[in-house]
Amino acid sequence: MPAQILLAGGAGYIGSHAALALQAAGYEVLVFDNLSTGHREFLRFGRQVTGDLADRATLAKVFATNNILAVMHFAACAYVGESVTDPAKYYRNNVANTLNLLEAARDHGVRHVIFSSTCATYGLPQHLPLREDHPQNPVNPYGRTKLAVEWMLRDFAGAYAMNFCSLRYFNAAGAAPAGTGIGEWHEPETHLIPLALQASLDPARPLRLFGADYATQDGSCVRDYIHVCDLAEAHILALEWLLAGGKSAAFNLGNGRGYSVREVLACAAKVTGLPPAVEEAPRRPGDPDVLVGDAGRAMAELGWKPVRADLEQIVGSAWEWELSRLPPPRAG
Ligand code: UFG
Repeated sequence: MPAQILLAGGAGYIGSHAALALQAAGYEVLVFDNLSTGHREFLRFGRQVTGDLADRATLAKVFATNNILAVMHFAACAYVGESVTDPAKYYRNNVANTLNLLEAARDHGVRHVIFSSTCATYGLPQHLPLREDHPQNPVNPYGRTKLAVEWMLRDFAGAYAMNFCSLRYFNAAGAAPAGTGIGEWHEPETHLIPLALQASLDPARPLRLFGADYATQDGSCVRDYIHVCDLAEAHILALEWLLAGGKSAAFNLGNGRGYSVREVLACAAKVTGLPPAVEEAPRRPGDPDVLVGDAGRAMAELGWKPVRADLEQIVGSAWEWELSRLPPPRAG
């Protein structure tokens, strides 16, 4: 049986893009997803098992009956606001279920793990751009669950025959080319770029701009948007690094360039030709003014280079995806 890469959460936004990239690079993909937030429509690459990380018996069976070379772990709850109101859900899904996954991997001799971490593990930046050695003091339960898993991985790698990469994503955005059938699809959608594009399509749904009084050039928050296909490629490089015996490490994945919310909205207007309706709204709790990452380590060690760094290209690919999701026009 050829060796497979197990993608926990491979039917989600970033997981499905990684599945596409892995398949294109010649890897055998095995997606494990409970389809709670992932989409059946994204099960397009490799083989699939519908299962839940809470179900240790099913997990053990998946590891026992396949030839799994490495695990990529995308499965998580990822709404910062919800993590504040329902932290138990986050600790169960993101921490306890990850322990199930890592124990199953260890028990079946799987030695390589690539984990979807986040810039939210840093908390409020003390200096910018954020490097991996910046203190990690997350300001919400979501970030704390991701940091807990980073520590779990370090401890597993210290004790068992495992190495890992924690990939700290900045703001994943954009979509794979039209025709691949995958893109950004969250329910509910909370992310800036899809909401801005949806506001362009439907003036009845204005974009709420959260906070106009931040200490930034135009008062709106600044973020580092990274194309999801560039993120996907970093996973392949991390896999190859681990397979070659690379040491366990955390890597930032961002473009190192920040854009304000207003700049993103201007870009959306340019790409679509339809300026989104915008309503100024109060700040969203827990949003730092600026988050920009230094991905120098991933570039130097993994040989990663984002090639879709241009914001217009990122928003343009998201726009193609939004258009592909519109219902077909009615005949007559
Ligand atoms: N924003 C708006 N209006 C909206 C949505 C977002 O003004 O309707 C603003 C936010 O306040 C923020 C920026 O747009 O300043 C980006 O917001 P997103 O929700 O798109 O992304 P986040 O930066 O909040 O979240 C991302 C990931 C999270 C992760 C977080 C780490 O999606 O999983 O980065 O900071 F936790």
